[in-house]
Amino acid sequence: MALKLNEKYLSSFVKDSELKPLLAQAASAAEKLQKGDCAGNDFIGWRVLPTEYDRDEFARIKDAAKRIRETSQVLVVIGIGGSYLGARAAIEFLGGRFYNDFADLKVYFVGNSISSEELSAVLRLCEGKDVSVNVISKSGTTTEPAIAFRIFKNYMEQRYGKAEAAKRIYATTDKARGTLKELSTREGYETFVVPDDVGGRYSVLTAVGLLPIAAAGFDIDALMAGAQAGQKKFEKADDNASNRYAAIRNLLYRGGKKTELYVSFDPAFTMFNEWLKQLYGESEGKDGKGIFPASIICSTDLHSMGQYIQDGERTLYETFVSFGSARDEITVEKAAEDFDGLNYLAGKTMAQVNATAMEATILAHVDGGVPCMLLEVEKMDEQNLGELVYFFEHACAVSGAMLGVNPFNQPGVEAYKKNMFRLLGKPGY
Ligand code: PA5
Repeated sequence: MALKLNEKYLSSFVKDSELKPLLAQAASAAEKLQKGDCAGNDFIGWRVLPTEYDRDEFARIKDAAKRIRETSQVLVVIGIGGSYLGARAAIEFLGGRFYNDFADLKVYFVGNSISSEELSAVLRLCEGKDVSVNVISKSGTTTEPAIAFRIFKNYMEQRYGKAEAAKRIYATTDKARGTLKELSTREGYETFVVPDDVGGRYSVLTAVGLLPIAAAGFDIDALMAGAQAGQKKFEKADDNASNRYAAIRNLLYRGGKKTELYVSFDPAFTMFNEWLKQLYGESEGKDGKGIFPASIICSTDLHSMGQYIQDGERTLYETFVSFGSARDEITVEKAAEDFDGLNYLAGKTMAQVNATAMEATILAHVDGGVPCMLLEVEKMDEQNLGELVYFFEHACAVSGAMLGVNPFNQPGVEAYKKNMFRLLGKPGY
């Protein structure tokens, strides 16, 4: 079993008798999702992606990734929100935070802010290196990536000429509509599709995530195989871990636990936390409802947020994600003179010390009145990542339905855009 939900630390917070009706609700929501009988049912294509993805496009993604690796030392990925977070989360999960420092192909993400400092830094990082660009936007009109692409399109054309630039620019967008699709057709960019029935935050297993992940050198066959295993286990209307997680978080929410903290003891999980925050925040935070998703990386953040979690307002619960084995293992050595008093750790691996730190943290937080769940994952590889993605996507859809919201829309995101367009003087605003 690759992934296990360990509920043992919940025993003083969650009574079986209280959980039982919510488990029934979760199973019923999963059944409705399977039948397409749910709010937002025009955006549930992600549910069957691991088994029903477009095989021809998948092969094209692998070819494009190979070409990018053969012709470039830098891939600039332009996108924001769901068109950004999944790919970056996966690459850092699989390659670690220092991935780029070791990689033959560096992957830089831009267009996820309007910071000219960041964009100039990436332009500087491109100097003297061959570059490919993957611009990702389902709508094709999002301002942040549009600004970044305008600048990079010009940069590529100045550097390579129009014809060669067109060979180095890959666009991931709607199959037929939108500015980016029209431009790509006109300029001759190779294009990949964001399916109509898959929303941004559920799109990591489409070309949106797969092209950057494959270009970074990771095995997208194994990723999809893991997601398939996840689909098989979690899509059912039964008592599986994904449905249980959805039920537990709703029970805790109804009991006043309004904030969920995602916790990992591996910094390589930092961007996965960001992906989770978008997935759950954008899916559930609406109609005056929703669990607020937050995250910490430990033990780092125990030295900044630990005090609040242990002792602050009791409206939190935590979901820990742990990994059974470390990619590279370091053992604490014995020092001839125990100058730092650490010889009691000699012979232990850092992974053992880290696992003990996690256990100690959970026990302390439970004592402090914070309900804790633990998701145990075998290791940080493609297969486990695929299963983890499906676990959380499915749980999010079920949990949103239990909350009584449409987990597939994001009407609130428009508010800042309208103001920004008006203040910037965009015609029509
Ligand atoms: O999840 C979502 O739908 C959003 O986060 C979008 O992905 C984000 O706003 C970017 O949109 P687009 O891909 O249309 O540029």
